[in-house]
Amino acid sequence: MKQVFGVFGDPVGHSLSPAMHNAAFSALGMDCIYHAFRVTPEKLEKAILGAEAMGFGGINLTVPLKEKALKLDFVKPDPLAKRIGAVNTLVFGKKGDIQGYNTDGPGAKQALLDTGVEIRGSRMVVAGAGGAARAVAFQLAADGADITVINRTEERAVGLAREISAADLPGKIRGTGLSGLKELLRDADVLINTTTLGMHPNTDATIVTAEELHSGLTVFDIVYNPLETRLLREARTSGAKTISGVLMLVYQGAEAFRLWTGVEPPLELMKKTVLEALQ
Ligand code: ATR
Repeated sequence: MKQVFGVFGDPVGHSLSPAMHNAAFSALGMDCIYHAFRVTPEKLEKAILGAEAMGFGGINLTVPLKEKALKLDFVKPDPLAKRIGAVNTLVFGKKGDIQGYNTDGPGAKQALLDTGVEIRGSRMVVAGAGGAARAVAFQLAADGADITVINRTEERAVGLAREISAADLPGKIRGTGLSGLKELLRDADVLINTTTLGMHPNTDATIVTAEELHSGLTVFDIVYNPLETRLLREARTSGAKTISGVLMLVYQGAEAFRLWTGVEPPLELMKKTVLEALQ
């Protein structure tokens, strides 16, 4: 019988995950289907238990459910997801247990490694202090990066940095307001944009322009809609290396796929599928 996988969220209609995972299942000849389900926070508990009862193969969670899922007592988070305070992947164990993971951090890490960025000791500026920044910064701190979180609302950056420092991870971390960005970038190796700046429909917005960037930098924009953000264009003008948010999207999905199936997913096909859907 076909095994069902899905993403729960609200809104969830524009999710690229069904296309990406269905392409992978089909290429591997696996008798599985992945579907998007609109689930409100009030119905989350019933939806997860229902999926488990019906023998779903696995679940992804997206906005606004990632934090709420972690608070359900039957969801057992792994240490990274627990620290981040959010889960985006649920794995149904054979004994009826439900494990929660956050594959956003691993997805960002893989996108950096793929581009040849050495994480340990690397000077990274993480712009933004929301949910995406949390996942990225906890992961990179665990891998020994030297991180500055920079945010329009300075207290959020300072708070996140303090929380990560308290977790006693190998990396160093501090938080600050946006005004120091130009100076910080001069000595940085990597800039990661986790803010919503530049995201459709405000495609002209950017956290920095080419004049503040340089060719020694790698600029990673986790925004993938549009594919070519203004920040990535500015980065290219400055001679910096660029990483598209599509890579993080694909790698977080690939990591979920591995957790559910134990099978290595077809990464290039998943990337091609997402790129086609975004054209
Ligand atoms: P997510 O969970 O996707 O990370 P979020 O929690 O809404 O989303 O966070 C959005 C991030 O983008 C925040 O860091 C936000 O800055 P504030 O904490 O100051 O709100 C940042 N952001 C959004 N619009 C921005 C803008 N116009 N200029 C600078 N930063 C902006």
